[in-house]
Amino acid sequence: MKAKRSEWIESWEIVFPNDANPHGTMFGGRLMAVMDKTAAIAASKFAEKLAVTASTEAMDFMHPVKVGDRIQTLAKVVWVGRTSMVVKVDVYAENPLTHKRVHCTTAHFNFVALDQEGRPATIPELLVETEEERRDFEIAEIVKRKALERKRKILETEKSRQETTDE
Ligand SMILES: CC(C)(COP(=O)(O)OP(=O)(O)OC[C@H]1O[C@@H](n2cnc3c(N)ncnc32)[C@H](O)[C@@H]1OP(=O)(O)O)[C@@H](O)C(=O)NCCC(=O)NCCS
Repeated sequence: MKAKRSEWIESWEIVFPNDANPHGTMFGGRLMAVMDKTAAIAASKFAEKLAVTASTEAMDFMHPVKVGDRIQTLAKVVWVGRTSMVVKVDVYAENPLTHKRVHCTTAHFNFVALDQEGRPATIPELLVETEEERRDFEIAEIVKRKALERKRKILETEKSRQETTDE
């Protein structure tokens, strides 16, 4: 399949009271959902197929996001395998009155492209051209390797737990 460049996908949200925890700051799970959705659009546009979230890496929330803030989410495919992609997602919060902008989090999401029957499907290769793209690619390679290691260990643990239960 022909190699192609990936593009940044951008989304904006306003934080409403029902997005917040009892302290008036945005609920982490709500922000993760916004990130996952924007990443899904980046992945499916790149793959030109449906794409599902296979896993995510750990996420650090650097700044609380307040009710009324604007949230900018930027997502881009930074690594590809045969059927899988790593999408980098950056989130910034902007105060609409002071215009102060802060970096809230950056995290990587692993996606897998699917065919019409829901099976993993091949995707285009990724063109990595700039220095920033090379750096992102190297980080994503680590993210991907760690995700597969973690999955393997979880599945092994679950298998041995089931074998013990079945005895
Ligand atoms: C993700 C999913 C499609 C993988 O299917 P699978 O049959 O186990 O996949 P395979 O082992 O054949 O691997 C296919 C690709 O997925 C990648 N992959 C599988 N699990 C992964 C994980 N946890 N993290 C990152 N990549 C993963 C593999 O590395 C492989 O990539 P490659 O083709 O680029 O080498 C499948 O587990 C699934 O459908 N999960 C549910 C997804 C979903 O519903 N997400 C929404 C949240 S509930």
